[in-house]
Amino acid sequence: MHHFHYTADSLQCETVDLSAVAQLYGTPTYVYSAATMADNYQRLVRSLAGLDVQVCYAAKANSSLAVLRHFANLGAGFDLVSGGEIRRALAAGAGVKTSVFAGVGKTESEIKLALENEIFAFHVESEPELARINHVAGKLGVKAPIAIRVNPDVDAHTHAKITTGKSENKFGIPLKHASAAYEACSRFKNVRIRGVQMHIGSQLTTVGPFVEAVEKVAPFVAELQAAHGIEYFSLGGGIGIVYRDALASGAQAWWDAQPAGQCPITPEAYGAALKSLLAPLGLKILLEPGRFLVGNAGALLARVEYLKRGANKNFLVLDAAFNDLVRPAMYESYHEIVPLRRDTTRRALVADIVGPICESGDCFAKDRQVQEVGEGEYMAFLSAGAYGFAMASRYNARTLAAEVMVRGGTFELVNARESFEQMIVNEKVPTFLK
Ligand code: LLP
Repeated sequence: MHHFHYTADSLQCETVDLSAVAQLYGTPTYVYSAATMADNYQRLVRSLAGLDVQVCYAAKANSSLAVLRHFANLGAGFDLVSGGEIRRALAAGAGVKTSVFAGVGKTESEIKLALENEIFAFHVESEPELARINHVAGKLGVKAPIAIRVNPDVDAHTHAKITTGKSENKFGIPLKHASAAYEACSRFKNVRIRGVQMHIGSQLTTVGPFVEAVEKVAPFVAELQAAHGIEYFSLGGGIGIVYRDALASGAQAWWDAQPAGQCPITPEAYGAALKSLLAPLGLKILLEPGRFLVGNAGALLARVEYLKRGANKNFLVLDAAFNDLVRPAMYESYHEIVPLRRDTTRRALVADIVGPICESGDCFAKDRQVQEVGEGEYMAFLSAGAYGFAMASRYNARTLAAEVMVRGGTFELVNARESFEQMIVNEKVPTFLK
């Protein structure tokens, strides 16, 4: 469910006409629906009603200040993975007292920043990291709250680059060594055990692997509670979204029409499957959703530069490229691409939809059927709110896109398009070359 839809053949976000946004701020521009984010958040929280749930939004999916502030206002903390993300949460006016700090490579200065701002907990990935957190906490004269990330060795059945819960991944401590890791905590005077964490992967489209992982880890969680009096169990993130039928999935009717047993994951199904497994633990439950909260709440607007007709193939060349949205090039992922002005009387066009970057990998879709469009018309990539702008780069000396947030009938520029001057501000030609 989301708030991108056609009204009188114009693509709207909530009640804002996206052509107006594209004309005013240019393209490529990301547009986010505040209502969709809020709806997703509320649905997830409701699905586990009765449990003590804290959502820690995974800021890596989209760490724009506007998005962080929106979730903080709704009651979310954050799952943060760098000093930069901690500082973004602070800059958004959110604070990090209900947030967690994760990641396999935390530096001393990042640990210090997290402690100074009273992070809720560190999600620890290794024993050397535990030693380092202990050392930094000692210097500051505080006790660092920690949880160990356990690796349940469950197959998430998702893309290899975003699977994290298998034993061959770099993440977490294998379940069979986790007791020893918690025992090791007693050697460190400046840490205190607060919880336990797991995360099995991203873009999971069924609840099965979540259930398998919780069933596998729950007995260990109960042991930890008895031995160390832990307060919480974090299930990580990973709830998937609809990419292929993105536009249609905005409406309840699409969900109602899915054949039984084939419906993509919903927060309701997630909650229903896990509640009975989690309730007996009597612990606070942390969730770290990223994509589910923001993925279908964002679209990337682009302009058609050329329709290049070839002998065997057509190419629709846009002004957006893989530096703006890298997911298709990096994960072979599918994004639905639709015109901002729909015209059902036009012929269909089959084309490769590409960007202007000088690499054949700069291709968003192969042999995609779209309505015939020409120079100057606008297209939207749907389901682009997660891992879109957050993964953007400046490759080919392209400046970072603009970002706009919509609420109801109003919209605001929340991140101005980067200027060329901003792109080169830290650079200089060395004196020995002058
Ligand atoms: N918690 C931890 C420990 C994680 O590693 C991640 C994502 C999340 C939560 C949030 O997962 P989500 O709910 O968004 O699935 N760039 C890739 C996705 C990478 C996910 C990395 N970890 C993509 O565009 O598909």
